[in-house]
Amino acid sequence: MNVKIRHETPEDRQAIWTVNRSAFESDAEANLVDALRDGGYVEVSLVAEIDDEIVGHILFSRVAIITKVGTVEALSLAPMAVLPSRQRQGIGSRLVEAGLEACRDQGFKMVVVLGHPDFYPRFGFSAELARSLENPFGDG
Ligand SMILES: CC(C)(COP(=O)(O)OP(=O)(O)OC[C@H]1O[C@@H](n2cnc3c(N)ncnc32)[C@H](O)[C@@H]1OP(=O)(O)O)[C@@H](O)C(=O)NCCC(=O)NCCS
Repeated sequence: MNVKIRHETPEDRQAIWTVNRSAFESDAEANLVDALRDGGYVEVSLVAEIDDEIVGHILFSRVAIITKVGTVEALSLAPMAVLPSRQRQGIGSRLVEAGLEACRDQGFKMVVVLGHPDFYPRFGFSAELARSLENPFGDG
């Protein structure tokens, strides 16, 4: 299976919406991607392509972490999605790895994620490290 990971282009917008809609079985995350993009918050947006079809997507957008000694600029990984028929074939992992590398290349030092506790630790995310962070969405 030849999976190509690349940055999104304006022509990908509809396909990215469809991948998110299919993976989450709801419009919410697909519309969130459009809102973050339109709002100018997106720093990294990658797609996974097989034979010119977009089968996966990952988004990193700017988030401010407010501390007692100032504000830290970080990125938030959300959402990410792989078409249901293509899940559990390693595509999501490739997207996370390539995405984190792109974040590093762009000079970002911190990425936070709210998501599956079984999936993200393998890429270095740690619930322990994030314990002191509060977010508007509850635990995760
Ligand atoms: C999460 C998701 C992006 C992973 O993509 P993927 O291509 O299936 O991921 P990979 O094949 O690289 O890795 C599979 C691993 O992801 C984990 N995983 C996949 N889907 C999962 C799910 N719904 N819940 C928990 N873990 C899941 C499993 O631990 C699996 O590991 P295993 O194969 O060793 O058991 C994909 O399942 C998806 O789009 N899910 C629906 C949308 C979603 O929940 N997005 C994430 C929001 S936090």
